[in-house]
Amino acid sequence: MTPAPLGVYVHWPYCSRICPYCDFNVVRDRGRSRQQAGLVRAILDDLRIQAALTGPRTLVSIFLGGGTPSLLDPSAAAEIIETARALWSPVDDLEVTLEANPTDAETSRFAAFADAGVNRLSLGLQSLDDDALRLLGRNHDAAASRRAAERAASIFPRLSIDMIYALPGQTVADWTSELREAISLGCEHVSPYQLTIEPGTAFHRAVGRGTLRPPPEDIAADLYETTQSILEAAGFEAYEVSNHARGPTARSRHNMVYWRGQDYVGVGPGAHGRLSLNGDRWATHAPAAIDDYIATVARGEGPSGRERLSLRERALERLLMGLRTLEGVRMSELAPLGIDDAAIAALDGLAGIANGRLIVTSSGRPVLDRIVRELAHGA
Ligand SMILES: C[S@@+](CC[C@H](N)C(=O)[O-])C[C@H]1O[C@@H](n2cnc3c(N)ncnc32)[C@H](O)[C@@H]1O
Ligand code: SF4
Repeated sequence: MTPAPLGVYVHWPYCSRICPYCDFNVVRDRGRSRQQAGLVRAILDDLRIQAALTGPRTLVSIFLGGGTPSLLDPSAAAEIIETARALWSPVDDLEVTLEANPTDAETSRFAAFADAGVNRLSLGLQSLDDDALRLLGRNHDAAASRRAAERAASIFPRLSIDMIYALPGQTVADWTSELREAISLGCEHVSPYQLTIEPGTAFHRAVGRGTLRPPPEDIAADLYETTQSILEAAGFEAYEVSNHARGPTARSRHNMVYWRGQDYVGVGPGAHGRLSLNGDRWATHAPAAIDDYIATVARGEGPSGRERLSLRERALERLLMGLRTLEGVRMSELAPLGIDDAAIAALDGLAGIANGRLIVTSSGRPVLDRIVRELAHGA
């Protein structure tokens, strides 16, 4: 029997500059080369510790995320990738994704990352408009973004582009031309994210002071509809709420691991994981601070935070993750929530059952949070 599938998430927390909208676990990269070397060693040790826990598994994906893992030394990326490949059994077409920022310095290292084993680049363009990039506090302009996308498309077999929309003052016409240009840059996958004002960020404080005004709800809804129709017309299927792929082979296999409720090992500061061990499902989480993470791994503890999920928590997670996708979630996986026909009928066409799976319709997608709340609370 083939061992159960497994994804590996590696968190590299350093960034050249902290963007004012970002609430990920990040720190400014001030060259700390000793700490960075220590972090690479801790990540490698953590992989070994967690492999001893999981036992043999079929490795389907490695995702180097952040932060800005394109700042990582490519030889360190190669060591991490090789170590994961050696610890588990990789599938022939193992997906190895690297998140990258489109500065010229990082673009010049793309070939080295491809040699290191990266075969899919997730490029954080965010915008192709210089004013918008300035507003977002990015350290690249639109010309550098274009150069990065063109080079990435010529080097990596698979290219995904991240964009942020619903910026203050953005019109449907602005966004239409940016998105059309982005999909002409040779990508097979696009993740357009609506700008979220996260508590604790500089943008949150600016909104509080009244110096930053996100677009009103009706404009944001128009921008969402525009996104869906442009991408659909260009052959990008919305296989998940914020992810569009040119056909099933272009889907992010790594994200499918999350959305299908499969197992993944999370290594690096603040990384989360989900492991099924002896019939139980565990949520793992590493310390967020870099030095705490390194010290925890050095004590041989591996994922220091480990919680066994109850059957209800497991089903809630399946609801939350599965409903994000076009394939939905098997009703049998939701049994502990006791969702009945009446609860689904009350959603008035926002979700329905097909072939034993609960699936959110296109009209339900913009109100996904509400659907999940109603199904989870009604249960
Ligand atoms: C963890 S970030 C890392 C990517 C890379 N460091 C970069 O900035 O391009 C992943 C993606 O999340 C999105 N993102 C981060 N914060 C966001 C926010 N507040 N609202 C919408 N999207 C956000 C961006 O599109 C970004 O590319
Ligand atoms: S958006 Fe990317 S580059 Fe900016 S702070 Fe967040 S992770 Fe770092």
